Amino acid sequence: MAFENILVEKKPPVGIITINRPEQLNALNSKTMMEIYGAVGELSSSEDIRVLVITGSGKKAFAAGADIKEMVNLSVTQARAFSELGHRLCTAIEEIQQPVIAAVNGFSLGGGNELAMACDIIYASENARFGQPEVNLAVVPGFGGTQRLVRRVGLAKGRELLYTGEIVNAQEAKTMGMINEVYPADELMDKVMERSRLIASKGPLAVAQAKRLIYQGFDLPLCGALEIERQVFAGLFGTNDQRHGMKAFIEKKKPEYKGN
Ligand code: CAA
Repeated sequence: MAFENILVEKKPPVGIITINRPEQLNALNSKTMMEIYGAVGELSSSEDIRVLVITGSGKKAFAAGADIKEMVNLSVTQARAFSELGHRLCTAIEEIQQPVIAAVNGFSLGGGNELAMACDIIYASENARFGQPEVNLAVVPGFGGTQRLVRRVGLAKGRELLYTGEIVNAQEAKTMGMINEVYPADELMDKVMERSRLIASKGPLAVAQAKRLIYQGFDLPLCGALEIERQVFAGLFGTNDQRHGMKAFIEKKKPEYKGN
């Protein structure tokens, strides 16, 4: 697939998607979201890719929001379709097997932050800024932010951010549990690659199942979610990787997982 607004790199075991509209602070228009959706599908179906990374090009932004210039004159019906596209993209990121890491290298605002929050892990540079400033424009987040933000940071902080539109720095975002870690800007991608390779070295079926268990189990009643965990745990004993991994431990060898 050829892309205009994103760059896609395969550095097995890692696939990297870079939103590439730096002059517009990587704002997410429909075309860009469709391209990211396509790239997520393409990379996640590659057998040699075990972790995906999404980042923004330039030094200023991950993505400064959904594209206000595209949204300004949308009708109600068009706005619904625009929101559905953002939701489809964010849900696709949650539903693929591979963990997805957002490498946030600057502004992560509005729809951009909603994209980051759909990712499994968020690492940020020290200059990153986070927020849901939609109320400044008299709208609410449209790509899942009202739901994913409060799930990450809790109701108290989530409400405050959503009602004030306030922008917080990377340390504040880490303290409130929105993001995982903060690195100096020039180290961010190296650290992200290091963390990606660490995840990729683990049993891929186990990592994929852990992702699915968290995603599917989070909103279930605890007893139902725990039953799914028991089923998945047992099912993994039908894989070669489980036998290989446990034998390697006993024989004091490093395991090499094949994903079967
Ligand atoms: N959409 C479209 N264009 C955007 C944009 C966005 N979300 N954010 C920035 N840009 C554009 C600017 O219009 C400008 O383009 P021009 O040169 O053509 O004028 C360019 O990117 C550079 O931006 P600034 O000159 O504004 O840069 P700055 O450093 O002065 O300010 C900023 C940076 C504080 C991030 C500011 O750009 C800003 O406030 N951006 C909008 C943030 C925002 O409100 N995001 C939420 C959008 S609504 C949403 O996302 C809805 C949803 O949930 C689906």
